[in-house]
Amino acid sequence: MAENRLAIFASGSGTNAEEFFRYFNHHPFIKIVALLSNNPDAFALKRADNQGIPINVFSKNSFYKSDETLTYLQSNLISHIVLAGFMWLIPENIVNEYKSRIYNIHPALLPKYGGKGMYGDRVHRAVIENGEAESGISIHYVNNKFDEGKIIFQAKCPVLLDDTPDSLAGRIHQLEYAHYPRVIEEVISGKIQ
Ligand code: GAR
Repeated sequence: MAENRLAIFASGSGTNAEEFFRYFNHHPFIKIVALLSNNPDAFALKRADNQGIPINVFSKNSFYKSDETLTYLQSNLISHIVLAGFMWLIPENIVNEYKSRIYNIHPALLPKYGGKGMYGDRVHRAVIENGEAESGISIHYVNNKFDEGKIIFQAKCPVLLDDTPDSLAGRIHQLEYAHYPRVIEEVISGKIQ
């Protein structure tokens, strides 16, 4: 298979990004070639730098009002984009160019607990406050709306009576690490859609 060149977009800690670096290290046909962020303080940038993976930080203005990020992706021959804790909507120019080749992970069972403003601990707090018995992860294609692209894969975990947003986040993160890189590998290989 020809080389697939992935860019990861991350806004925060980047533990999922780190898992991708690990999983695809020396992979025969998938390579992580860049980590991009809207947040110059994102720890994800340090994680990438530590692995020798090129980083790119962009502003709101350049992301939404220019082709700078798209040009960066194209000039680095990026074939697929993986969102890993990335908090901004992907602009039309990038969605159009990378249709069906942008993926996101959401820390709940979509279509519940998705949409604008639903990210990270806010999601877990809402799940606990609503007394849900289970939560999970959703890996989905990205379109120009928050968390509305076609779902590729979901996995569930229990919500325990004494869960806090932190403890639930920990359980969800374990599910994310266990599935996200593998599912993306299978999508790129054409094994699942
Ligand atoms: C992950 O749990 C991811 O599902 C979530 O942010 C966390 C990032 O953690 N994404 C969203 O909430 C997107 N709406 P990480 O920076 O340690 O990978």
